[in-house]
Amino acid sequence: MTKIIQILDLCQRHRCHTKHNLFMNDSFTPLRVTRKQLLAKDITLFELADPQGQALPPFTPGAHITVQTPSGARRSYSLCGTPEQHTTWQIAVKRDAKSRGGSQSMVDEVQVGDLLPTLPWANLFELNEAAPAYIFVAGGIGITPILCMIRHLLSQGRTNFKLYYCTQNAEGTAFLEELNAPELAGQVNIHHDHGDPAQALDLWPIFERPTSAHVYCCGPQGLMDSVRDMTGHWPTERIHFESFGAAQTGFAENQAFDVVLQKSGKRVSVPAHQSILEALRGCGHLIPSSCESGSCGCCRTPLISGEVEHRDMVLRPDERASHIMVCVSRAASNELVLDL
Ligand code: FES
Repeated sequence: MTKIIQILDLCQRHRCHTKHNLFMNDSFTPLRVTRKQLLAKDITLFELADPQGQALPPFTPGAHITVQTPSGARRSYSLCGTPEQHTTWQIAVKRDAKSRGGSQSMVDEVQVGDLLPTLPWANLFELNEAAPAYIFVAGGIGITPILCMIRHLLSQGRTNFKLYYCTQNAEGTAFLEELNAPELAGQVNIHHDHGDPAQALDLWPIFERPTSAHVYCCGPQGLMDSVRDMTGHWPTERIHFESFGAAQTGFAENQAFDVVLQKSGKRVSVPAHQSILEALRGCGHLIPSSCESGSCGCCRTPLISGEVEHRDMVLRPDERASHIMVCVSRAASNELVLDL
């Protein structure tokens, strides 16, 4: 049975009350893949259902699930379907040829009828149901949790939102037809920059004057940095970010290195295709984890020595000499010594 520890308000980055499930062992529940569909260039939708046809647990808008891909990697994906629909869950996966291989394995190897090992949902990006209005900013595959929020609001007859959805071109834009529907005209702004930063959407007119709206942003790091910069004068509790898939770009190519566990003296090899978390898990040393994308704060581990390439969104600059988020960060030296 999965050992789940639920804690409140652990997340440091999201500045909101969030509920986390920390996964301490490998007890996955298999869900049946009932649909696989190409949504846009390199973006594939998977629909998952209980193999016995039971209803799935209700989830809240902004939630994600963690799956184990056929390659053995764990990846987290936002649930993008309507939370009110309990027979299936939907995720959309962008195949990233430059990633560690999890998304490639999902898209290339998972087929309709397969059983996909899945951990219970968690939510690090909760929608504030009481907000008077919402401003959504999505970049690329970052549309998935935002779409879930929009579908949820629309299912309740609520239209108090605006969406700014930034992609390179129409060909790579998931859910284009749904979001271009005439009834959403005036609420949805889809912007293509054609890969040219000079053509990026100017967000300043949106954020120049703070309003009572809550802002939800998910997408590439550059987009989130822009929104963070432009909302610095807004109340922090009204600004929310989700970062799946955004933290692992722009870093040096992965190299193998060793991790030494100070308390046991054990030495663990971390190959280029695995995270420290995965390598430790592989030799039976379990670290609490949830997002496995450097954003939730669960896998914070004390660091004794070694040079780190920090790839997370959690640690403050003053914490980086003494801690490491082992789900994403790597060694910039041959060896790291951890206080484990
Ligand atoms: S598991 Fe979330 S930051 Fe590492």
